[in-house]
Amino acid sequence: MNTRVLTGITTSGTPHLGNFAGAIWPAILSSRQPDVDAFYFMADYHALIKCGDPARVARSRLEIAATWLAAGLDPERVTFYRQSDIPEIPELSWFLTCVTAKGLMNRAHAYKASVDQNQAQGVEPDDGVTMGLYSYPVLMAADILMFNAHRVPVGRDQIQHIEMARDIAQRFNHLYGAGQDFFVLPEVAIAEDVATLPGLDGRKMSKSYNNTIPLFEGGAQATRAAIMRIVTDSRQPGEPKDAENSHLFMLYKAFATEAESTAFRRELETGLGWGDAKQALFERLEQTLAPMRERYESLIAAPERIEDILQAGAAKARRIATPFMQTLREAVGLRRLATVSQAGTQAARAKGKGGKAARFVSYRDEDGKFRFRLLDADGSQLLHSVPFDEPRAAGAASRNLVERQKDLAWATVPEGGGQLLLDGNVLGFTAATDLEPAQLRVQQALEALAQQD
Ligand code: TRP
Repeated sequence: MNTRVLTGITTSGTPHLGNFAGAIWPAILSSRQPDVDAFYFMADYHALIKCGDPARVARSRLEIAATWLAAGLDPERVTFYRQSDIPEIPELSWFLTCVTAKGLMNRAHAYKASVDQNQAQGVEPDDGVTMGLYSYPVLMAADILMFNAHRVPVGRDQIQHIEMARDIAQRFNHLYGAGQDFFVLPEVAIAEDVATLPGLDGRKMSKSYNNTIPLFEGGAQATRAAIMRIVTDSRQPGEPKDAENSHLFMLYKAFATEAESTAFRRELETGLGWGDAKQALFERLEQTLAPMRERYESLIAAPERIEDILQAGAAKARRIATPFMQTLREAVGLRRLATVSQAGTQAARAKGKGGKAARFVSYRDEDGKFRFRLLDADGSQLLHSVPFDEPRAAGAASRNLVERQKDLAWATVPEGGGQLLLDGNVLGFTAATDLEPAQLRVQQALEALAQQD
């Protein structure tokens, strides 16, 4: 199985050069590896937590989607979607909320920072803290666990959230898994070799420092204007510059080949003026950005094209999310009423007569297929179903076993054991070497189930 890599970007702003170099571009490169299945999405539910400005959220969704596509993301290859187009995500988020310890959320850095700030200001500790902010890590866990991601590339500030997702997954597996794990435990991936770009003032490039270089917005002009504002030391043209300690050079290096960087360093060390250096940086950036910016502008001008791509992405994501959610609903007890009355009867019988009944147990196998087992009153396995693509088909097959007992047929399997057929289709297997008593036990179990209905 391929490695599932998943990451999301909160849609509360306009991507800048730092987002591109630190997250978007490395993610696109990783999605092109043959053994990777990438899931990249717009975390627009998360945007509602931080931002109460609908126009900004709407605009940011468009800009971030266009940025991914313009930068070269292949939506055919990657599962590329908006969080809010997958209703299974908030549903899973609630399931996870119900198994998440409040104490775990109390320890979340983002929440604790708000509390600390409030305390410093002498107001109520939870002043201005919404349940959205408080539960943020649970929603993020749902994003990740919904697709059973193996690897989650994020910035350092998100490491704790991935650890929390693991905690929550483990707890759910333990409570409901009955020996089988529903969720993969995700690994955080911090790319050590990926550039953290310095901003105009040399601190980390970040919107909150107001030191960013725009990516596509504002055109080449805006990029150039920002570059001209990069802070340098006061050395004059002709004076040697300390390239390794200049953030202008760091920015150049992040986009250039090694040979280009070596040549540029030499020029700086032999007296290139800062003005000319800025021009060189601008030209090098444009080499990479100009073709992308052109695509970006034509995408932004045709939002319905992006919408179609995202709708297709949502459908692709839901082909995984919908059946998986069905399995999870079953697991927590949100079941079809027919199955419930069966279980109810079973419980009543167990109580009243001290007896137990046979039962079906359905589950999802390693290949993502749906199967069920028929268990005897004592829990031993009588029958194991063939795999089904849809939980619905597995459910229909188990009901057919009960309702159409007269039409069932048995055949022996050369390797040993037997198979149960209905209308010529194999529905399940028994591993019993002695077929006749095994058939009888299956028959009795099915009769008992029919009586409960
Ligand atoms: N919280 C992440 C951020 O602000 C965005 C995000 C939301 C995310 N859900 C995710 C990242 C799931 C990775 C996986 O950067």
